[in-house]
Amino acid sequence: MISSFKKIIRYGLPYRKYAFLNIFFNTLYALFSALSFIALIPMLNVLFETTEKIVQPPSYEGILKLQSYAKNLLNYHISQRLEENVGQTLILVVGLVILLFFLKNLSNYLALYFIANLRNGILKDLRNALYHKIIELPVAYFTAKKKGDLMARMTTDVSEIQFSFLSILELLVREPLTILFSLLAMFFISVKLSLFVLLFIPLSGIVISSLGKRLKKHSARIQEEQGDFLSIIDETISGQKIIKTFAAGSHFTRRFEGATARFHHFSNKLLHRASLAGPASEFLGIAAIGILLWFGGQMVLIQGEISGATFIVYMGLAYNILTPAKAISKASYSIKKGNAAAERILDILAAEDSLKDLPTATSIDAFQKEIAFKKVFFSYEDQPIINGIDFTIKKGETVALVGPSGSGKTTLTHLLNRFYDIQSGSITIDGIPLHSFTKASLYQLIGMVTQESILFNDTVWNNIKLGNPKASEAEIIAAAQAAFAHDFIEALEEGYQTRIGDSGNKLSGGQKQRLSIARALLKDPQILILDEATSALDTTAEQWVQQALEKLMENRTSLVIAHRLSTIQKADKILVIDQGNIVESGNHNTLMQLNGTYAKLVQLQQIQ
Ligand SMILES: Nc1ncnc2c1ncn2[C@@H]1O[C@H](COP(=O)(O)OP(=O)(O)OP(=O)(O)O)[C@@H](O)[C@H]1O
Ligand SMILES: [Mg+2]
Repeated sequence: MISSFKKIIRYGLPYRKYAFLNIFFNTLYALFSALSFIALIPMLNVLFETTEKIVQPPSYEGILKLQSYAKNLLNYHISQRLEENVGQTLILVVGLVILLFFLKNLSNYLALYFIANLRNGILKDLRNALYHKIIELPVAYFTAKKKGDLMARMTTDVSEIQFSFLSILELLVREPLTILFSLLAMFFISVKLSLFVLLFIPLSGIVISSLGKRLKKHSARIQEEQGDFLSIIDETISGQKIIKTFAAGSHFTRRFEGATARFHHFSNKLLHRASLAGPASEFLGIAAIGILLWFGGQMVLIQGEISGATFIVYMGLAYNILTPAKAISKASYSIKKGNAAAERILDILAAEDSLKDLPTATSIDAFQKEIAFKKVFFSYEDQPIINGIDFTIKKGETVALVGPSGSGKTTLTHLLNRFYDIQSGSITIDGIPLHSFTKASLYQLIGMVTQESILFNDTVWNNIKLGNPKASEAEIIAAAQAAFAHDFIEALEEGYQTRIGDSGNKLSGGQKQRLSIARALLKDPQILILDEATSALDTTAEQWVQQALEKLMENRTSLVIAHRLSTIQKADKILVIDQGNIVESGNHNTLMQLNGTYAKLVQLQQIQ
C-alpha cells in the first residue's frame, strides 16, 4: 500500500526544492508555535502580579540549568521594567506574544505556499505522463470497454490523489514537528508532569477514539444499501417503456420500498450511534482533562513545584498536541483512500507497449516495388478475423477490397498500418517485414482516410494542416482545392479559421470526408489506405467526394475499401473478402464474367 504512495511521491523529485523549503518553514512553524505558548507565561505572571522578583542578572551555568537561567533572565528584565512602568511592561509582554504568533502564522503560510507548488507540480506531471502514455500505447489497448475507464482514471483518480495523498504532504512534516516541539516545551516546563501526561494521554486517546470508531461502524453497509436503491431508480427510468407495457410498476415499487426500508433501518441505527460518538468522546475527554487538572493542580497548590500561570500554559501546550494527533490519524485513512486511485493510475503508466519498436528496427524512407501479404492470420482476442490471406500490391497499383459488412476489410488495412500485429504469416514492404521498421517511419509512409472521418475540435485550417505540419499556406489551400473542399470552406462563416466543433459535428458528412481527403492529400503519402464511408451521400456530394478521391489516388499505391462502383471499376485488382478469406480476385471485367459474389454485389448496387 505504501509503495503506491512512494511511486506517486517520486513524481515530486523535480520539485524537491519546494519540499525542502516546506520542511524549513514547517520547522519554524512548530518552533514558534511552542514558543508562542511559552511566551504566555510571563504575560500571565505580569497580569496576576506573580512575577518572581529577580534583582541580580543571573549567570549562565551550563546547558543543564538552561531552563532556570532562561526563566531568571526573563524575570530579571521584566522585574526591572515593572519597577519603572507597569503599563509599558504589559505592552512588552503582550507584544512578544503577538510577535511570536505572527511569526508562527507567517511560517505556516510560507510552508503551505511552497507545498502547493510541489503538489500541483506532481499533479501536472502525472497528467502529462498519463497523456504521453495514451499517445504512445497501441490501438489495441483502447477497446471500447477501456475508454470510459481511462477517462475516469485521468480525471477522477487524479483528483482523488490530489485530495487524499497530496493533502497529506501538508501534514507530513508540520504535525509531527508540532507534536515534537510542544512536547519539548512541556518537558522544559515540568518533567514530572510531562511523564504523567505521556503515559496518560495516549491511553485515554486510544479509549476515546476506539469508542468513536465503534460507534461509526456500519457506514459501509449504508453505502451499499444506498447504491442499491440508486440502481433501482436508474433501471426504472431507463426501463420506463418496458415497465409500463409489462405493467411491472407494482413489482418495482415493492423492490424500491424494500430497499428504502432497509436503508431507513440502517440509517437510524447509524445516526443514533453516530450522535452518541460526539457527546461520549467529549465527556471522556473532559474526564481525562479532569484527571490532568487534579494531578497538575496538586503540583501547583500542594507541592508548589510550578506556578498557576505556568500550569495554564502547560495545559495549552498539551491541547496543542491533540489537533496534530487527530490529523495524523485521519491521514492514515486518507492514504488508504488515495491508494486505490494511485494503483489505477500506476496501472496505466506501467502498461507495456506491445508494439514497441525493436532495437534493430530501421527506418523506411521510400517504397520501391511491392507490398505483400502472405498467409496472414489475425484474430482480435480469440475470434479469428483474417484466415490466411495472400495478395500483393505493386507500386502504383490500386487494389480494392469489397465484401460484406464484418468480413474483415477494415481489419486488413489496420494490419498494413501495423495497428495490430498479425498472429502468423507475413506482411512485407519490398520484402522486409513490417515489424523491422520503426513505427514512426512506417506511419510517415502511409496516409489514411478512415471509414468515419476523424476530425478534431479545431479550425478547418489546423485540421488540414495535421497532414503535414510543415506545409505552407499555399500548399494547404491547394490540398483543399484538390479535395474539392475549398469552395465550401470559403463559404463558412470564418472560412479556414472556422472551428468545426467536436469531431467536426458542425459539418455535413460529405464535407467531413472532403476535409479528411484534403488532409491526406497534404501529407502526400506514398501508400494510401482508403476506407470509403458507406454512409449515403446525395448525388452531388457523392460526385464531389468521388472526384476528390480520384485526385487522391492519382499516382499512388492504394489499398481501397470501395463501395462506389466507379472506384471499384478503376481498380487494377479487386479482392472479394468473405469471412476473412479472399473468395474472388481479378479486375472488374474478369470478375463480372465469373458471375460470382462480385457480380451479385454489383447487380445489387445498380438496382439501388
Ligand atoms: N477492436 C475490435 N475488437 C474485436 N473485434 C473486432 C474489433 N474490430 C472489429 N472487430 C470484429 O472483426 C470483424 C471484422 O471487422 P471489420 O471492421 O474488419 O469489418 P469490415 O469488413 O470493415 O466491415 P464494414 O464493411 O462494415 O466496415 C467484425 O466481426 C468485428 O466485429
Ligand atoms: Mg470497415
